[in-house]
Amino acid sequence: MARPGVLITRRIPATVLARLEPTCDIDLYHGPGAIPRSELITRIVGKHALMCLLTDGVDGEVMDASPDLRIVANVAVGYDNLDCAAARARGIVVTNTPDVLTEATADFTWGLILAIMRRIPEGERLLRRGTWTGWALDFMLGSDLRGKQLGIVGMGRIGRAVAMRAAAFGMRVAFATLDTEEPVPGPQDAGWIRLDLDTLLTSSDVVSCHVPLTPETRHLVDRRSLARMKRSAYLVNTSRGPVVDEEALAWALREGLIAGAALDVYEREPIVHPDLLGLENVVLAPHLGSATIETRTAMADLAASNILAVLSGRPPLTPIPAEPGRAETIVARPGS
Ligand code: DGY
Repeated sequence: MARPGVLITRRIPATVLARLEPTCDIDLYHGPGAIPRSELITRIVGKHALMCLLTDGVDGEVMDASPDLRIVANVAVGYDNLDCAAARARGIVVTNTPDVLTEATADFTWGLILAIMRRIPEGERLLRRGTWTGWALDFMLGSDLRGKQLGIVGMGRIGRAVAMRAAAFGMRVAFATLDTEEPVPGPQDAGWIRLDLDTLLTSSDVVSCHVPLTPETRHLVDRRSLARMKRSAYLVNTSRGPVVDEEALAWALREGLIAGAALDVYEREPIVHPDLLGLENVVLAPHLGSATIETRTAMADLAASNILAVLSGRPPLTPIPAEPGRAETIVARPGS
């Protein structure tokens, strides 16, 4: 094959680009935000690989624009932006970036737990407004973490990494998994308790979501589940926005059905539900879970490794596994 064409939909670290440039013809989208769909479809023509982000919807129509396409390498662990079945039906390899972002995302989750329970952003807003009148015994009191129950929904890599950190804050861990999730190795050893989702919601002081977005997890946290939570409890979401019904969450926060929430992800990013923006008892971060220099570089690097492997006829390092129980027609493309 002549030098393969690679479309990259967002700027990536120079070190990662330098790994692809010697053997590939790179077409790098330089736009300020996500590549518009029409441009994605135009520019993918004739390309053999696509490096894309969670902001790029990649479906059969996009794939069909390039009959030579052999790999779609998502620079994210979540891949709800990709139509994996459509890729497999066309013999296109799909990859994601697991593991490399686990620790950064778990750290950030704890940042959010501390931020909402100790009211850090709320305090900073007050201070910057110039309305701080000084120390007082009863001023801006939050909640202790020690002795409380952290309820983790979804016990994959990130859920486990969040759980591992709980002992440092004196919190006990409960978790609920989805039916489709792989079994958690040895949670009892770490003193973690497995609960059904309803019991986890009613008994936890912090509920933290770590599930992928699927039809089953869309609005997993809705009015009903929020109403089941303790009035003193906090909700944290660093997974995918649509896992939480934002309108229901704003209602629960307004009505005092839960004490607070901290979100890193939203249903229609970058739009945040307007009802949330006006509330003090919610921390709102702009999807920063994996946003460290080291981690984002490692994510792009892993995507590049997947592309280089597939283009040279080797298996990808981190293929997205086929969904259990889903029949997919695998038609291998020439050279794949
Ligand atoms: C992912 O990789 O899925 C994250 O949301 C990016 O931070």
